Amino acid sequence: MVAFRCLTTSLALLGTLATALPQFTDTVTTTNVTTANVTESVDIAAQFVDDLVSLATQVADEQAAPSVKRSSGCSRATSLVVDVGYAKYQGYTNSTNGLNYWKGIRYAAAPTGSLRWQPPRLPSPMPNGPVTQATSFGAGCPQAIPSVPSAPFIPGNEDCLFLNVYAPSSAENLPVLVWIHGGGYGYGDAAQDMTKIINANNNGFVVVTIQYRLGAFGFLASQQVRKKGAVNAGILDQAFALAWVKQFICQFGGDPTSVTIGGESAGGGSVLYHDIAVGGTLGSLLFSQSIANSPYLPFQYKYNDATPTSKYIAFAQAAGCPTTGDVFACLVGKDTDTLQQANYNVTQQSTYGYWAFYPVTDNVYITDRATKQLSAKKVNGRSLLVGYNANEGPLFVPPSITTQSDLISWLQLEFPNLSTAQINSILAANPNNADTNLANPLFETDGLSTGYANAVNVSQVADGQQQRANNIYAEATFACPAYWMASSYTGGPSSSWLYQYSVPFAFHTTDLAAYFGPATPNHSNDFTLAFRRIWGNFITTGNPTISNALANGASAANPSAPNTASTWPAYNDASPKLLNLNETGGTPFQATMQWGSVVTQFSQPGLKNALAVVDAASWEGGRGARCAVYKSLAPSIPA
Ligand SMILES: *[C@@H]1O[C@H](CO)[C@@H](O)[C@H](O)[C@H]1NC(C)=O
Ligand SMILES: *[C@@H]1O[C@H](CO)[C@@H](O)[C@H](O)[C@H]1NC(C)=O
Ligand SMILES: *[C@@H]1O[C@H](CO)[C@@H](O)[C@H](O)[C@H]1NC(C)=O
Ligand SMILES: *[C@@H]1O[C@H](CO)[C@@H](O)[C@H](O)[C@H]1NC(C)=O
Ligand SMILES: *[C@@H]1O[C@H](CO)[C@@H](O)[C@H](O)[C@H]1NC(C)=O
Ligand SMILES: *[C@@H]1O[C@H](CO)[C@@H](O)[C@H](O)[C@H]1NC(C)=O
Ligand SMILES: *[C@@H]1O[C@H](CO)[C@@H](O)[C@H](O)[C@H]1NC(C)=O
Ligand SMILES: *[C@@H]1O[C@H](CO)[C@@H](O)[C@H](O)[C@H]1NC(C)=O
Repeated sequence: MVAFRCLTTSLALLGTLATALPQFTDTVTTTNVTTANVTESVDIAAQFVDDLVSLATQVADEQAAPSVKRSSGCSRATSLVVDVGYAKYQGYTNSTNGLNYWKGIRYAAAPTGSLRWQPPRLPSPMPNGPVTQATSFGAGCPQAIPSVPSAPFIPGNEDCLFLNVYAPSSAENLPVLVWIHGGGYGYGDAAQDMTKIINANNNGFVVVTIQYRLGAFGFLASQQVRKKGAVNAGILDQAFALAWVKQFICQFGGDPTSVTIGGESAGGGSVLYHDIAVGGTLGSLLFSQSIANSPYLPFQYKYNDATPTSKYIAFAQAAGCPTTGDVFACLVGKDTDTLQQANYNVTQQSTYGYWAFYPVTDNVYITDRATKQLSAKKVNGRSLLVGYNANEGPLFVPPSITTQSDLISWLQLEFPNLSTAQINSILAANPNNADTNLANPLFETDGLSTGYANAVNVSQVADGQQQRANNIYAEATFACPAYWMASSYTGGPSSSWLYQYSVPFAFHTTDLAAYFGPATPNHSNDFTLAFRRIWGNFITTGNPTISNALANGASAANPSAPNTASTWPAYNDASPKLLNLNETGGTPFQATMQWGSVVTQFSQPGLKNALAVVDAASWEGGRGARCAVYKSLAPSIPA
């Protein structure tokens, strides 16, 4: 009965919208999506954003109405069959871990054929269709890994707008985490297993993992794409999925008014963009909290700037389309294999470590440069948990920088829009005159030491100019965006908490295993539990601090000893702090990294938690001051 009333509400809502919002109603009225007429006089992106805001507002109003609240608008289905209006999905239970799973739920129509590079829209309804068994993940989107030698071509399926739901079996009105995967906006999928982080938090929240269009399919941009379709289609997919969550998560036992969005790398960058979306005017309409790990902000062009336009032309050429006239129509008409190959080819022609297609300023959803808007503290939601890793650089910087002249050549490639004077200001902020000499002792910095032993000069994998490059990349692209995001949620009613993940060797992506698993030898159970509870506490209470016992870990000599993680203060500009998440002790072992370096890591027995609140400004010999330099350069990067 409850499920039925919930369904009635959803359908009634869609019915209401049918009159007001043509974009969302094709599927419930008679319009045939595949033949939708996209006129060039309409601002397609603006229409989409208006509709999205109206839909989310109506859903929120509907769910908040006293007559429906809890009784129908926000109640969980009484069986594992969930009806989302256009389809029914049957989940399954795992009684060992107490979770219900629904995998491969379609949240938008296949963005294929005439819907390529259009905003997402609801799927065609199948009112009397069969119940779909939601037991396996949906197909992954077409993939492209960054430009590195011998990158493989990895095909995917353009019909990939699926999401997965993990809900405690007894869930009723629980907080929700929506996870946005990383992969440089070019690869990855939503298959990340969320079981462990939910179990570690007493099954206290629901998780939704989402897919979105990637590479050229999600981030093709130019004047023509903006006019005939949507730039940032992949970001709009994510926003559409958030509206889906608002509308339907009640049936899975989730509370649509308590949504945290989270993501790592490009997923963290995506979180950044939702945080600043529509000029930061959305409040808590789509979500109320966010978690960003290693937020990826390499640059952000305007949709019609020369750089994204040149990628558009290169993509057209690779796909065998003309480069003038109605390029867009030609691309829309191509077969998927040609487009996927072109996406791969253009990506591989990029600078080392880069993809070809990135979010752009579109003047509608993303209205300004990220750095500028974060500085102005115009952000959505009310709180943020943000972090980055100790060694973000080496996965992205070519391992061939020995002299200062190598470094300068690389900087010119990396920051093509910076003048010589601006490049010199980066060098001055990272003083290190030594050439790379791997015969020197290499070691992990501790963040606190002054003099030579900071991230500008040395890590376990590099010294000299190579380390200087690694640190410049790490800070400009990941660490400083994390600092700026933290700062943007201060000075008003909002709050943020900043952390660094430092377990050796903390290169980009290694944090994922700590909070999601699977278990690795270098993460003790004490450490993963502490990290998972930091997340869980934030998701469920809005505050990430944990008890002394959790911070120290059960294996500590005195688990109840005071630990500053239990009093981790919210970030503030006057006295910025971060939580350093590390381990000490353990048994050393050697591991070879994917770029060839050999590092020392530590496994059991003997691992102990090492969590401590530290000063974020003086960290690593003055990260605060270096971030101020990148912020001053941001208008020219542009970022
Ligand atoms: C949409 O319209 C076209 C042309 O009228 C038709 O061939 C197609 O079957 C329709 N599709 C659906 C899902 O109704
Ligand atoms: C789309 O709409 C425009 C403007 O109303 C019209 O000129 C055009 O013929 C239509 N195209 C199709 C394919 O229906
Ligand atoms: C059920 O959950 C347990 C614990 O997470 C896991 O080990 C097991 O493989 C799961 N069973 C199935 C059938 O997925
Ligand atoms: C991609 O590059 C390969 C190798 O250069 C080439 O053979 C192929 O034709 C290109 N395909 C497209 C679609 O650009
Ligand atoms: C970046 O530099 C290129 C080449 O000098 C120039 O065409 C472009 O306008 C610049 N873009 C921005 C956003 O500064
Ligand atoms: C290492 O870093 C410090 C502080 O950033 C700097 O003053 C020093 O010159 C660097 N050492 C070398 C050998 O370059
Ligand atoms: C992290 O811990 C390792 C020991 O496992 C230590 O060498 C390193 O300096 C620490 N790093 C930070 C940033 O705390
Ligand atoms: C932990 O160990 C695993 C396996 O040895 C490795 O793949 C991973 O990169 C390590 N994590 C860190 C943070 O070094």
